[in-house]
Amino acid sequence: MNVDGKHLRTIWLAEDGWSVVIIDQTRFPHVLETVTLKTAAEAAHAIREMLVRGAPLIGATAAYGMALAAHHAVDDTSLKRAYELLAATRPTAINLRWALDRMMARLLPLPEMTRMAIAYQEASEIAEEDVAINQAIGESGLALIESIAEAKPGQPVNILTHCNAGWLATVDWGTATAPIYKAFDKGIPVHVWVDETRPRNQGASLTAWELGKHGVPHTVIADNVGGHLMQHGMVDLCIVGTDRTTARGDVCNKIGTYLKALAAHDNGVPFYVALPSPTIDFTLKDGVAEIPIEQRNARELTHMTGRTEDGRIETVEIVAPCSPAANYGFDVTPARLVTGLITERGVIAANSEAIAAAFPERVAS
Ligand code: MRU
Repeated sequence: MNVDGKHLRTIWLAEDGWSVVIIDQTRFPHVLETVTLKTAAEAAHAIREMLVRGAPLIGATAAYGMALAAHHAVDDTSLKRAYELLAATRPTAINLRWALDRMMARLLPLPEMTRMAIAYQEASEIAEEDVAINQAIGESGLALIESIAEAKPGQPVNILTHCNAGWLATVDWGTATAPIYKAFDKGIPVHVWVDETRPRNQGASLTAWELGKHGVPHTVIADNVGGHLMQHGMVDLCIVGTDRTTARGDVCNKIGTYLKALAAHDNGVPFYVALPSPTIDFTLKDGVAEIPIEQRNARELTHMTGRTEDGRIETVEIVAPCSPAANYGFDVTPARLVTGLITERGVIAANSEAIAAAFPERVAS
């Protein structure tokens, strides 16, 4: 998407033709800096430490991590070692394992001499497919925004989103933001309520940054404000992303998503989830019982980083050192609270039948 008028993606091949460039998302919103990855271990570090994050981008980075592994060694043992290393980085986003399994299924049957070139080709295809999927999600969701806009002529459509399911979480366009960018680019008045998304503030530091760079009107709100806004008619619809959605439509996403869905349900506000098909886990049904929820370092909760008035980036402690903290990364919103899933094949109901009908080839695999 646009950054100061220039088109930028989140991951690309370096000029040497084999190393991989990413944007270091831990430095946002004050610093836009890239990092060059040269090994699978560096790709694993980037995913684990959240230099890259967001389910689709985690998948694309893992795929390029396998290509980097193949650049150095193409025997079965080396590739399997890289697979294990990358697979162990983050447990919740299913795109990670989806991309790694796809890379291994493509590479292992090949003669060793062809593996490196095909690894880069496959990783590039995964990245390009992500862009195409997100653009199609944008078109599917655009119709929803358009119909709300028609019902309130001259007034902006107010959309609430949580975490960052924007282009920074994908290769380009984003999932939840794709319909918003499409609507904005088409001249439909939109305004986005951006949940700050504690503890890592992906809303405040990533979503707000990218919407601002593209020129989309938005307002950052504290995580607990959404319910109040919905009670006062100030939210027309919610659109969030997902890290894993089960075969029956239970949606796992950044911690706090479930509370927004409850508030939306209570206030009759439509609650949509933008769902690229690689994020569907057809092996699971009951999201609450079956999806592993990542627990991250408590320091993410007890400390905050920001820019001081004289321009220094500093980290401060905000919790008394004697207090333990628990840092759950994700929660599950049951399908019954989801108005619809915005997919690359249209807006569908959050239930087993609709999901299986939309993606029959995935059910069989
Ligand atoms: O911990 P993160 O920042 O990787 O969590 C990201 C989210 O929860 C996103 O909403 C989700 O991955 C969807 S991204 C298109």
